Amino acid sequence: MNPVHADFFAGGAGAERTLRGNLAAFDRLRIVPRVLRATGDRDLRTTLFGAGLATPILVAPTAFHLLAHPGGEAATAQGAAAAGTVMVVSMAATQPVEVIARAGGPLWFQLYPQPDPGFTASVVKRAEAAGCRALVVTVDSPVFGRRERDLRNGFTELPAGLVCENMRDDTGRVRDIAMDATAGWDRIGWLRTVTGLPILLKGVLHPADARLAVEHGVDGLIVSNHGGRQLDGAIATIDALPAVAEAVAKRIPVLVDGGIRRGTDVLIALARGADAVLVGRPVLDALAAGGATAVRDRLRELTAELDHAMALAGARRPDDLTPDLVAVAG
Ligand SMILES: Cc1cc2nc3c(=O)[nH]c(=O)nc-3n(C[C@H](O)[C@H](O)[C@H](O)COP(=O)(O)O)c2cc1C
Repeated sequence: MNPVHADFFAGGAGAERTLRGNLAAFDRLRIVPRVLRATGDRDLRTTLFGAGLATPILVAPTAFHLLAHPGGEAATAQGAAAAGTVMVVSMAATQPVEVIARAGGPLWFQLYPQPDPGFTASVVKRAEAAGCRALVVTVDSPVFGRRERDLRNGFTELPAGLVCENMRDDTGRVRDIAMDATAGWDRIGWLRTVTGLPILLKGVLHPADARLAVEHGVDGLIVSNHGGRQLDGAIATIDALPAVAEAVAKRIPVLVDGGIRRGTDVLIALARGADAVLVGRPVLDALAAGGATAVRDRLRELTAELDHAMALAGARRPDDLTPDLVAVAG
């Protein structure tokens, strides 16, 4: 891969403390397994918003898949579908959502609310018409993170011929993705008037925001720091998760992403209160290495690792994973 693009995929904001922290936080946690739990008939199937998935491991929304592989987002969708899971399509996808939907599914659509409400509504309608089953509103990006690798590399625009295909307006013109620092909680109420899809907020770390989200009728939360690409210094997601899960108290699904690289990481996240997890860079790395087949295999491998870890920890179902199974290493 072009090293400038590889830096875009791998990098984080600022000193990359949060990027490293997401991984380091898992290194400080240990599993306290249970024994003699008759775990022979394990079942990892997971239901989210009425849809059955083969695994609690989903594909996080990430930008610009055509930079990683000529199959682009469609290849990722094909791989996710073959693994029996959801792909969250990024608003910054380089292929039209209709093309991605033809290659796979189930899909959810990730949205950065745009300053122009009419345009935002048209993007949501388009995703809905293409068959996306939930809307993931990214709320950790009132402004762009300062990604110093991209600044050093001068990576400011896509190569000729690539655009954010889902940013086309009625005239066919591709708009730039804007971050909107004027958005408040009323924006969620407004989105409700635009779509009947379940609305998840992505990028919640503070338990007070989790409570507010429930009060505002949000359908799900994703505990995320954008893979360390927005606020450098933000708490590791696996450390933020327990307080968010406690605040939500099972009223809506709580998902988490950031630094999940092994089945044992998934086990810890589910034990700490997540209903499911998402992976970003592991999917991008697989896509770059081998397209749809590699994406499928990476997701299946993570699922097999989770299954194996559950057997060893005494769990038959994701629901068996409870906070007492995780300890902080001494
Ligand atoms: C290259 C790249 C692009 C991303 N693009 C988006 C995006 O367009 N929208 C979004 O909400 N999150 C985006 N994210 C964040 C991911 O959805 C996710 O939060 C993060 O990758 C999880 O961390 P992980 O990579 O350690 O699994 C991006 C992440 C990466 C690495």
